[in-house]
Amino acid sequence: MIETRTTTHDAVEDPRNRDIRIYVNGEIVPRDEAKVSVYDSGFLLGDGMWEGLRLDRGHWVFFDEHMDRLFESCKAVSLDIGMDRAGLLDALNATAAANDMESDVHCRLMVTRGRKAKPFQHPSLSRSGPTVVIILEHSKPASGLSQQGIRLATVPQVRGLPHSQDPKLNSHSKLNCVIACLQAEQAGADEGLMLDPHGFVNTTNACNFFIVRRGEVWTSTGDYCMNGVTRGKVIQLCREKNIPVFEKNFSLLECMGAEEAFLTGSFGGLTPVAEIDGKAVGNGNLPGEITVSLQTAYRTLISSHIEKGNFPASKTKR
Ligand SMILES: Cc1ncc(COP(=O)(O)O)c(C=O)c1O
Repeated sequence: MIETRTTTHDAVEDPRNRDIRIYVNGEIVPRDEAKVSVYDSGFLLGDGMWEGLRLDRGHWVFFDEHMDRLFESCKAVSLDIGMDRAGLLDALNATAAANDMESDVHCRLMVTRGRKAKPFQHPSLSRSGPTVVIILEHSKPASGLSQQGIRLATVPQVRGLPHSQDPKLNSHSKLNCVIACLQAEQAGADEGLMLDPHGFVNTTNACNFFIVRRGEVWTSTGDYCMNGVTRGKVIQLCREKNIPVFEKNFSLLECMGAEEAFLTGSFGGLTPVAEIDGKAVGNGNLPGEITVSLQTAYRTLISSHIEKGNFPASKTKR
C-alpha cells in the first residue's frame, strides 16, 4: 500500500489555479506572465517580507493583525512598502476581483526591497523598489488532516536569537525553516519540531506548536517563534473559554506526557499532531477533545469577524 502523507500546507488540488492572475507592482497579469527581475533583492538575498492570509466568504481574515505584523517587520528593516494599509487592501481586492475569488482562497502577499542595480548586498543598490506581488490561489486544506494528524520530528536546526535574525521576521529568507523541514523529511516526518537555543520546545518550521497537558494548554514563551496571528487568537480563545493557557518553557519530555498536541497557522487553522519522534501523542486518538473545541471556537471567531464586515473584498474589476 502506498502511504500518502500530508503536511500542514497541503491543499486540495484545484485546476483553476493554472489560470490565476497575479498582482505584480500594480499590474494584474496571467500567471505565466507574472515575473520579477533576477536582480530583485527578494531573489538575490531573501530581502523582503511576506504575509499569508485567507480570503473567506469575501473577507480578509484578521487583516489588521496581518498588516500590523507586516508594517512592523518592514519598519524594522527599513523597507518602505510604498503603500498604506488601504492601498494594500485595494490591491488585494482588485486581485480577488480579477480572479473572481471570494472564499477558500490563500493569499501570499510579498514585498521586497526591489530591483538592484548590481547583484550585490548593499540595500542602497535597490534603486527601483519595492516589488509588491500578490498571489491568490484557490486553496482548501487537504481533507483528512484532522483525523490523520501531522507527524513531527525534533530537528537539530534551532530557532535563532533575536539579535542574529529575529525569528519573528516573516522574511523571504526562510532558510532556517527550510533546513529544519529537510531534516524532518530525512527523519521520515512531515514537519520539524524546533527547539530554542536553550533546548526548550519552541515551534515547527511552518506553524506554531501547542500541547495539552492535564487539561492545560501550553505553548512556548513566544520568544523565538513567529508571532503567529492564529497563535494569538488561540491563546485569546483559551482565556475566553476558561481553558488554562500558559506561554512557558517546556521540554520534549513534557511533550511525551501530553494528551494532545496541535499546530496553528492561517492556512490550516488548528491541525492535530499525531506523532512526535515516532511516538503517538496521548492515546493516539485524533483529534483530541480540547483541540476539537478550540477548532470550533476558532471557526466561530472567523465567522463573527466576517459578520462584522470590516474588510469586504471589492467586486470591482480593474
Ligand atoms: C515559521 C512560522 N510559524 C508560524 C506561522 C503561522 O503564523 P500565522 O498564524 O500568522 O499564519 C508562520 C506563518 O507564516 C510561519 O512562517
